[in-house]
Amino acid sequence: MPKDFLTLADWSAEDLFRLLDRARELKQLLNRGQRPQSLEGRALAMFFEKPSLRTHVTFEAGMAQLGGHAILLRPEQVGIGTREAPGDVARNLSRWVDGIVARTFSHELIEELARVATIPVINGLTDLLHPCQVMADFQTIAEHVELKDAVIAYVGDGNNMANSLMLGAGVLGLTLRLGTPASHRPAVRIRRCAEELAAASGARLSWCEDPREAVRGATFVYTDTWTSMGQESEREARRRLFAEYQVNAALLEHAPEAWVMHCLPAHRGEEITDEILDGERSLALDQAENRLHAQKAVLERLLT
Ligand code: CP
Ligand code: NVA
Repeated sequence: MPKDFLTLADWSAEDLFRLLDRARELKQLLNRGQRPQSLEGRALAMFFEKPSLRTHVTFEAGMAQLGGHAILLRPEQVGIGTREAPGDVARNLSRWVDGIVARTFSHELIEELARVATIPVINGLTDLLHPCQVMADFQTIAEHVELKDAVIAYVGDGNNMANSLMLGAGVLGLTLRLGTPASHRPAVRIRRCAEELAAASGARLSWCEDPREAVRGATFVYTDTWTSMGQESEREARRRLFAEYQVNAALLEHAPEAWVMHCLPAHRGEEITDEILDGERSLALDQAENRLHAQKAVLERLLT
């Protein structure tokens, strides 16, 4: 088992299915008011370079529910790369706490933290990947259909969510169709990695430019913001570029049976309409809820 949870590509299908089983179990336990104290006395440092609602709250609440404790570190407090070198931050944290969750702009920074730290490092989102979100998403899909039967269509920007969905589908052998502009397909190195994983797992990964073709007959239609954190200056250009990828009633006529997914936060009226996000086909809040359970499973696995 890997020390860290940086990318789903490092994990085996068997390990990820075990985590998803435990996440389902932890959800059932919590719904019955039971909070196993499996991380009693453990501490988690949470370093966030970007804003967060879901990731911050679910890791902190998750640690508390498991009997542990979480400490939020703001970048201005720590001064990674200015006050102190990343490696020194990782070495010090390794002497005090049992794990680190980091949300960084650069994926290379989290890789460096993980390389130096002697404790597990969990990716709470980088510009490249968001693996914890995908675990919650797969847990959510599995609440409706067998994962292997899901036809997941992701439309919009080939960003960190698209990258992680590709890798997760690649490991687990799932069906994922991407509909993005040719200029905004997932990163080439991620595509190559996902294709290698798919060759071994039997995953069916495909891409097309037309969002209608991507969602046709899908059982889950997934989208994410067109303007990720750090890209705010490009927002107007991106609104124009991605306009035809909006998840709205017209697009969903091509996927009449599909559930709709969004990792949140949503830019309402851009990548998704209010009507669809708030409608009965939307699983967005279930996905948000499952962040708690999926991450508790990851924490238990890495910190004990
Ligand atoms: N989906 C997600 O990661 O939300 P936050 O950015 O609020 O953590
Ligand atoms: N792609 C988005 C995901 C937010 C959870 C971002 O990086 O801002």
